[in-house]
Amino acid sequence: MSKHVVLLPGDGIGPEIIDATQDVLIHLSNKFNHTFTFEKQDIGGSAIDLYGTPLPDQTVEACKVADAVLLGAVGGPKWDKNPSHLRPEKGLLGIRKALDLYANLRPVKGFPALVSASPLKEDIIKGSDLLIVRELTGGLYFGTPSERVESGNAVVDTLYYKRYEMERIIEKAFQSAQIRRKKLTSVDKANVLESSKLWREIVEEKKLDYPDVEVHHELVDAAAMKLITNPTDFDVIVTENMFGDILSDEASVLTGSLGMLPSASLAENGVGLYEPAHGSAPDIAGKGIANPIATILSAALLLRYSFNMEREAEAIEKAIDKTIAAGYHTADLKLENGKCLGTKELTEIIKEYI
Ligand code: IPM
Ligand code: MN
Repeated sequence: MSKHVVLLPGDGIGPEIIDATQDVLIHLSNKFNHTFTFEKQDIGGSAIDLYGTPLPDQTVEACKVADAVLLGAVGGPKWDKNPSHLRPEKGLLGIRKALDLYANLRPVKGFPALVSASPLKEDIIKGSDLLIVRELTGGLYFGTPSERVESGNAVVDTLYYKRYEMERIIEKAFQSAQIRRKKLTSVDKANVLESSKLWREIVEEKKLDYPDVEVHHELVDAAAMKLITNPTDFDVIVTENMFGDILSDEASVLTGSLGMLPSASLAENGVGLYEPAHGSAPDIAGKGIANPIATILSAALLLRYSFNMEREAEAIEKAIDKTIAAGYHTADLKLENGKCLGTKELTEIIKEYI
C-alpha cells in the first residue's frame, strides 16, 4: 500500500524522536512491502522563527491532504515570554482545531519490566491497562473570551461546549469500551460546573444505546486519587479537554515514564494526527538521549487507526515489548539492571526486533 505521511517535528526533542520514528516506519514498510512517503512541515516555535507564526498555512494545507500526520512536540523557554498568539502551543491547538481532531485517545499500559521504574508500588500498578478518551477541540482551551479585563485587574477564561461536541466524544468512548473490557468511567465536576451537569446527562442518555457497557460517574478530584490508588479499576475513562490533559500526565506514572505514552487524535472523517503525550523536553534536546518510544508507539496507532494495518501496528508494539523486556531503555527510565542507550541505539534495537 502507498501512503503519504506529514511529519511535524516541532521543537526541543521533537526532531530527534520524529527522525527515530521515521526510521522505524521505513524499516517496517520494507518488511511489509508498503511504500510510505514523508514530507516535513513546520509547527510551533521553529515555525515562529522561520515564518513568524506557530502554524503556517502550508502546514495546515499539507496535513489536510495527507494520509496521516505524525507530530513530535512543541514549545521551549525561547518562546515562553512571547504574547499568547505567538506561543508554540498555539500551533498545536490550531492544528487540532483545523483538522477537527475532537477525539484524543491515550492508551496507558504498564510494561511488566518497568513496574520498578514507577514510584508507585508494584502491587498497585501491576496489570493496569486503561484508555483515556479526552475531548480535544473544546472547553477552556478554546472558549472566548480568554483575556485580561478590567485594566488587567481581572481575568476571564471561558468553558464553552456545544451539546454535539459532548455527544460525539462520549459516543467514541462508548465504542472504545465495547471493544475493550466494557467499562466506562465518565469524569466530570458535576457537583460544581454547569458544563459537567450537561456532560453527565448526555452520558446517561447515551448509555441506553450501549447496554453492554458498565458506566460509572466519577468526580475529577476523586478520579485523580483513584487513578493512582486503584488503577486496575479503570478500563476506559472519558472526560473533557482540560481534565483529560491533567489525568493523562498523572496516568503516565503507571507506565514508569511520560516518555512511554502515545496518543491518537482523530476526526469524524478526515486525517488523524499522532503524537507522544509528552512535551518537547528542552533540557535534553539535541543530546541524543530522548526516549523515542512514545512517538514510535504513536506510529503504531497511526498504522492501526489511519491505515488499518493491524499486523504492522502489532509488529511495532511487540518489538517495543521485547526491547523493554530485554532491559534496553533510555535515561528517563530509572532501571537498576537495564542497559541505558541513546535515542538512535535504542531505535536500532527496536528495528531489529521488528
Ligand atoms: C498535551 C499537551 C498540550 C495540551 C499543550 C502542549 C498545549 O500538554 O498534548 O497534553 O495541553 O493539550
Ligand atoms: Mn498535556
